[in-house]
Amino acid sequence: MKTAKQRNDNKRSQLAWLIGSAASGAAVLSLATIALYPHQSHPQALVSAKVVKKAAKPAAHGTSSREPIVYKSPPRSLIPQGRQLFAEDCQTCHGPSAEGSVRAPNLQGLGAATIDFWVSTGRMPLADPTEQAAIKPPRLSHEQQLAVSAYVASLAPGGPAIPSPNLGLANLSKGESLFAENCAACHTITGVGDALANNIYAPSLWAATPTQVAEAIRTGPGNMPRFGPGTFSNQEVDDIVRYVTYIQHPEDRGGLALGGVGPVAEGFVAILIGLGSLMVAGYWIGGRAQ
Ligand code: HEC
Ligand code: HEC
Repeated sequence: MKTAKQRNDNKRSQLAWLIGSAASGAAVLSLATIALYPHQSHPQALVSAKVVKKAAKPAAHGTSSREPIVYKSPPRSLIPQGRQLFAEDCQTCHGPSAEGSVRAPNLQGLGAATIDFWVSTGRMPLADPTEQAAIKPPRLSHEQQLAVSAYVASLAPGGPAIPSPNLGLANLSKGESLFAENCAACHTITGVGDALANNIYAPSLWAATPTQVAEAIRTGPGNMPRFGPGTFSNQEVDDIVRYVTYIQHPEDRGGLALGGVGPVAEGFVAILIGLGSLMVAGYWIGGRAQ
């Protein structure tokens, strides 16, 4: 027969064991998540937070207008500079008049927003044409991006000009529900991004500027669907862009800012703190059972 104290001790060590396994299970899970999605982990979040701080101010010509989004063609005076840049950086793959080749698609008629998106996110010029074009620091300066966009847009009509969202006119809660319904399936509700299929991934949205978010929505880069004016009004695009800038700035939510490294890094810190307390509880109960 066991004494009451022994039974009690037994329960305690079982409890300690349970808590211990829960804690290590959670640790393994979070490590696995980080190993599986390296491109979404901490350093990128840090970079994003920095880039975004600069980008968050709405563009000057967007704020003075009463329109939720103003579409502006890049200045035609930049076309000669753009022609030159295209010959140096793009023509080997896209052909001398952007008509396309076996190496790369036709760019004629895509419009300035598409060109600006691919160049300003550093996806183009491409180094390795076999992989999904990666987001990297842009090779071309802002003026050069506009110049290449102006040149390609001048070759054939079609496609949207470059959008400037006016975040002052946006509705955050509408943006959140639109994002939940139309974007979260691929990018997740925090915008951290996710693996899709066949090595394709929906990237993190934490580094995208308001213009790039509107460009992505209106032009549908790569495997992302395009959401034209028949799907979303300019007001709705503006609302979604507002939501994306909101998830880029966790301090705006009134919670702990933790240096603004982003919701996932914060979630990770929360897991660590949670794990720490579980372990302490486990040791304490285990220790008492001796
Ligand atoms: C090494 C070859 C290569 C070079 C150099 C290159 N591209 Fe590309 N480009 C590609 C390939 C391949 C794709 C298709 C990639 C994809 O869909 O992910 C592409 C896609 C694009 C797209 C998207 C087209 C679409 O249908 O949505 C744009 C815009 C673009 N390139 C612009 C440029 C510009 C501007 C330059 C020069 C600054 C450039 N590219 C340089 C190979 C190249
Ligand atoms: C079916 C999945 C899917 C859906 C739905 C989707 N996206 Fe995407 N998105 C992608 C993929 C894939 C890319 C990367 C394209 C590439 O690089 O070839 C992307 C790229 C982007 C980018 C560029 C990020 C960067 O920094 O370069 C933004 C911004 C974006 N999406 C926003 C949105 C928004 C906003 C919505 C909802 C209106 C949305 N996406 C819906 C799959 C999706």
